[in-house]
Amino acid sequence: MKIAPSILSCDFAVMGSETRRMENAGADYIHLDVMDGHFVPNITFGAPVIKAIRPYSSLPFDVHLMIENPLDYIDDFADAGADIITFHVESRSNIEKTIEKIKARGIKPGLVIKPNTPASAVFPYLREIFMVLVMTVEPGFGGQSFMANMLPKIGEIKNEAKRQGAKVLLELDGGINEATISEAAAAGGEVFVSGTGVFKAADAKIAIETLRELCKQANEQLDG
Ligand code: DX5
Ligand code: ZN
Repeated sequence: MKIAPSILSCDFAVMGSETRRMENAGADYIHLDVMDGHFVPNITFGAPVIKAIRPYSSLPFDVHLMIENPLDYIDDFADAGADIITFHVESRSNIEKTIEKIKARGIKPGLVIKPNTPASAVFPYLREIFMVLVMTVEPGFGGQSFMANMLPKIGEIKNEAKRQGAKVLLELDGGINEATISEAAAAGGEVFVSGTGVFKAADAKIAIETLRELCKQANEQLDG
């Protein structure tokens, strides 16, 4: 189980120290939301900004590309220090080529599906990727409400991965906080992105510990 604070909710005037703050608070990954104003109706930051904050943390950088043509920018994000790059099946780039390009740069590839995209959209690629990210909000903005009706996709993907003998990590992104993480964990989520839930908390360390504890309890209940 991993907690990945989304830097989208940080104080952008001091992104470096915000990144370090999350590492000190016990985060597992730093989640970086790249938006181009075309694929989603919002613009955030690109590779130069990621490169600038890279020295502030040794945690894996989990870069979530919400851009129309991810293939054209893989080299830039690789050079900036990405460890994981996830991109949308709904983007315009050729999916196989983009996965290959990410792997060729020694980075772990992942595919993302928007709420209206069925789980089956990632089935043809499960053997080639490290992670599947299931969006639990419409991508574009932090602070939206969690869509619990996305959770059955996790089981569908896990069952299909098992059938194929593929090993993928299931990440969830959008509206994850103390009120929603338990059901997300019970549904089989393994990596939990949280923006507002962690950055806007009075104490990020306590917020991350609480999320971890709730996850643990949800998993124990499943096992028991
Ligand atoms: C939405 C982003 C998410 C978002 C999560 O497009 O991909 O990572 O920042 O933020 P919260 O946790 O506030 O929903
Ligand atoms: Zn994201």
